[in-house]
Amino acid sequence: MSSLTNKRIILGVTGGIAAYKSADLVRRLREAGAEVRVVMTRAACEFVGALTFQALSGHKVHIDLLDADSEAAMSHIELARWADAVLIAPATANTLAKIAQGLANDLLATLCLATRAPLCVAPAMNHVMWMDANTRANILLLRQRGVRIFGPASGAQACGETGEGRMLEPLQLVEQMAQIFQSGALQGCNVLITAGPTLEAIDPVRFIGNRSSGKMGFALATAAIEAGAQVTLVSGPVALATPDRITRIDVESAADMQQAVMQQIPDKDIFIACAAVADYRPAQVQTQKIKKSGSALKIELVKNPDILAGVAALDSPPFCVGFAAETEHLAQHAQQKLVAKKLQMIAANDVTKQDSGFNSEYNALHVFWPGGDMQLETASKSQIARQLVLLIAQHYKERRTQKKPHEKNPAENS
Ligand code: PMT
Repeated sequence: MSSLTNKRIILGVTGGIAAYKSADLVRRLREAGAEVRVVMTRAACEFVGALTFQALSGHKVHIDLLDADSEAAMSHIELARWADAVLIAPATANTLAKIAQGLANDLLATLCLATRAPLCVAPAMNHVMWMDANTRANILLLRQRGVRIFGPASGAQACGETGEGRMLEPLQLVEQMAQIFQSGALQGCNVLITAGPTLEAIDPVRFIGNRSSGKMGFALATAAIEAGAQVTLVSGPVALATPDRITRIDVESAADMQQAVMQQIPDKDIFIACAAVADYRPAQVQTQKIKKSGSALKIELVKNPDILAGVAALDSPPFCVGFAAETEHLAQHAQQKLVAKKLQMIAANDVTKQDSGFNSEYNALHVFWPGGDMQLETASKSQIARQLVLLIAQHYKERRTQKKPHEKNPAENS
């Protein structure tokens, strides 16, 4: 079975007879591990009841653009941001025409304009409509703009005629959806990622920590796996399940993380340091719980080793990507870290922004490398992770091809 583990999919259902198959599609997408939210057009509701989709998806179905309840719970903009991908199945000729023209006259069409997630359509219509010059022109335009067109298949049609225009079967659509997440950009690469916070013990019950949830690092691990890499994830204490096919090493303190990273690094091609590592730790860890006494307590802190800088300073370092969590002068501080730590790339996080950075489902990054930069606008952490992994893959490959022949990369030996 194809994997869509933890993928957030908006299923748009439009008004065609194939809408009855979309009910099964919701089940199949969920069986493959996806979380599904359904958006129906009014015409779709004439074919299948919204309650069916609510029961199968486990969530309220979204129908109207101007719906006070919906806006209070999850507005069209939030839905657009939430999605890792949008699949419209069935996609009628009318919906395809609306999307091609950029109309925003119902919730589904508006979502398509508002989302940065990949858009996929599974056309379903009478074969003459499918071959009509208008539909052909719309399909061409959509393809040129990067919309994925799944099908249609040929065969007997609901109207009694035979020809091209049948919606693909639910399992075929699940297969196609799984493929859009598999880029292959890091095929054959060994990637080490750090994630989450480190906790620095003060005494047996207290520690110094930070707000990192691990979500960004875990999303990167999943994106790297989908890009074909072998991934080892060194994680501080977080409440997240291990993504499929990933080797996970749990650590607590910066010292533990450094030890695990240094053990793992020798055969790695790429190192992504997403963890929020404590810069300082208590000089002394008390063996007994510190008792409440005077009005103030002083704890002496000493500097932790810089794990990332240590890896980048190795004789034969991997391609090193850092993160920079900043509250001011984002670009300046990130670029300073890029140079000071001798990195190939750094992703700067403005952690003062609401709904971004620490513990949020969303993020926005400004990525820098020597001589260039790129802004990754606010999106879910899994979308940001996929974009960043593609960028890393592109720069990693460019660097490899620039290397002299005797500077062989470990990945080339495997
Ligand atoms: O975990 P989430 O809730 O999803 O939040 C994600 C995040 C905000 C934690 C993440 O996107 C992020 O920005 N991580 C880096 C946070 C950080 O520690 O930044 P920094 O500027 O202090 O460190 C710069 C770089 O050096 C980082 O790559 C860090 O991993 C590394 N570092 C820092 C200190 C240290 N002693 N050793 C290190 O390796």
